[in-house]
Order: sequence, then C-alpha cells, then structure tokens
Amino acid sequence: MIQPIGLHHPVRIGGYITKGNIFLAPVAGYSDAAYRSVCLDAGCDLAYTEMVSSEALIRDSVKTEVLLQRAANETENAVQLFGANPEVMARAAALVADRWHPSVIDINSGCPVPKIVRNGAGSALMRDLPRLCAIVEAMSAATAIPVTVKIRLGWDDDSINYLEVAERTVAAGAKAVTLHARTRHQAYSGQAERAAFGRLAAAVPVPVFASGDIFTPADALAILGDSTPGAGRVAGIMVARGAMGNPFVFSRIKAALEGSAEPVIDSALRLATARHHFRLSLEFYDQHTAGVEFRKQACSYLKGVPHGAELRNLAVRCATPAEYEIFFERWKESLPSVADAAEPAED
Ligand SMILES: Cc1cc2nc3c(=O)[nH]c(=O)nc-3n(C[C@H](O)[C@H](O)[C@H](O)COP(=O)(O)O)c2cc1C
Repeated sequence: MIQPIGLHHPVRIGGYITKGNIFLAPVAGYSDAAYRSVCLDAGCDLAYTEMVSSEALIRDSVKTEVLLQRAANETENAVQLFGANPEVMARAAALVADRWHPSVIDINSGCPVPKIVRNGAGSALMRDLPRLCAIVEAMSAATAIPVTVKIRLGWDDDSINYLEVAERTVAAGAKAVTLHARTRHQAYSGQAERAAFGRLAAAVPVPVFASGDIFTPADALAILGDSTPGAGRVAGIMVARGAMGNPFVFSRIKAALEGSAEPVIDSALRLATARHHFRLSLEFYDQHTAGVEFRKQACSYLKGVPHGAELRNLAVRCATPAEYEIFFERWKESLPSVADAAEPAED
C-alpha cells in the first residue's frame, strides 16, 4: 500500500536535504541571526537571511558581515543575494560559499522597492529573463552550493509570467523556486493568489516553496495538503510577516502538519522569548545598534498583549540593555499572576 506523504517532511534542494519544509522567509530589517535563532528554536526548519547586496559584499564584505553572522543553533541556513550583474552575483556567491558555508544561495527576484528595481535587481529581473538566467548560470558555475530563486507572479496583472520565469531559471540551473504569489505592482497588498502555488508545482521538476499570507497552521495545511486536480504538490512553506514577534507560529504549524497537539503559547512564554531574543541580539551587535534595532521587534511581540499600548510606548524609547531590562520587568509585572488567575474574581 502506498503511504500518504506526511505534510511535514525534508526537501531535497540539489544536493542538500533540509530538515523539514517550514521556512522563515528573507525579511529585510528583521531576519538577522538573533531572529533566525529564535525561529529555529520554535521549530522553523530553515531560515533565510535578509537580502544581501552582491555589490556591497564584493566591495567590502566586512560591512555586510553583520547580515551573514550565524547563531549557535543555526547549523544550516540560506543566504539571499540581490543584484543585477551576473559576474558580481557569481563573485558574491563564491565569497559567501567560501566564508559562510550556507546550504542554499537564493536570488532575490521579487523585491518591489524602487531603489532596488531601478538598478535592474529584485522584481525587475522578471522583466529581463536573459539577465536572470545569466545570473543563475554564473552563480551555479561559481559554487557547488545549490542556487535557488525567489520570484513573484509577474510585474503587474498584465504581465503574469511566473511559470515562464520558473521554467527558464530551472533550465538555467535553479534547484528550487519560491513564489511570493503577488505581482510587483501589488507589493504587499491584496491577497496572495494561492492557486498559483499548485500550478507552479505542476510545471517545474524542482521543489516549489509557497510565500504569501501564511499566518496560521490552517494556511499551511491548505497549501501543503492542496489536492486540487491538476495541482502539483507544494514542497514547503515560508512565513514572513506571520512570524514577526510570533516565532511560535512555527511550533504551531509544525504540530498541525504532524497532527500533534497544539502547543500552549502563554504570555509568560511570549515575554521569555522576547527577552531571550534581545539578549541574543547583544551577541551580534554593539549595544547601541542592538538597542535601536530591537525596538521594532519588541513592538511586534506586544501585538495583542494586555497593556500593549503602554508597553510599546516604553519599548520605542529603549536604547540600552538596562532600559530594556526595565521594560521587560514592567511587562512581567503586567502579566496576570498564577495566583490572580486561580483566585475567583470578586464582585
Ligand atoms: C519588511 C519586509 C521585508 C522583506 N524583505 C525581503 C527580502 O529581503 N527578500 C525577499 O525575498 N523578500 C522579502 N520580503 C518578502 C517576504 O519574504 C515574503 O515573500 C512576503 O512578505 C509575503 O509573505 P508574508 O505574507 O508571509 O509576509 C519582505 C517582506 C517584508 C514585509
């Protein structure tokens, strides 16, 4: 009897086999070593760095090093590069492979930001397929590490070309394709077009990873378990906004895919994770940078937390570790104590 394929499973990307298929997406300004580390602790199987400039990397790799640092529990990762020049991208890939040994090197072909697109990088590459394919070929020739691409549906509604982009880049050597199922024009608005994932998975002979509006275990189950006739099987899912201040989404998705009990995420765990996240940040940045950078992360953790507005007000003013300790203590004081919870409410 053929066993049904479990929804949580490793994926082969070229010669690399992942631990599983629940990934942290590349997110500029967020996906640093500390954040990737807490996501891995929470059950994420592979974390992507934020996009790193190939030009900056080959000019002065020391400056970009901060983006490529690895946490102690990050035994494997994926590094994402952006750029428009095949030769520079290839040199950057070789440098990254040599110095940081990632398991995957991904090409950003979806970024909608004008500054990036103006230089022919990010989603502009979807309008210049010969260039994108030349980048894939040059990078694949420069390193033995599998090269993958992250794309969008197309530039706008009138130029949906993800199937062609995927087919052409796979022919050029890409070992997996991630689709953020929106157009460049949409940026982050509207709904990701979920049906496109299965269409793409049916069209290419490499793993397809889904990105866009995956916020809950139900979203992950719907995409990985999609049995629409004609749809291919999506190999893995990537979470971006849904993991901000919420690394627990990985443990919840993992439990759902494995059919095990939903983990309990209480307010004490949320606070302890945020505190650990900040302390980890101090290992990778100087105190001032860690202090400023962590404000947005702290605010993300406070979404839906009682007294959140008041605590956010405090968080956005924190700069030093001592100020953060005061903030975390204030947060702790605002938690309902076990004794409060056990006591019957008085009239
Ligand atoms: C603030 C922000 C920064 C992002 N940075 C990157 C990036 O560096 N590289 C990339 O490929 N995608 C980037 N993305 C896109 C995400 O990886 C993801 O594809 C998109 O947000 C859709 O997923 P979501 O609905 O889970 O957020 C970014 C998204 C956001 C919101």
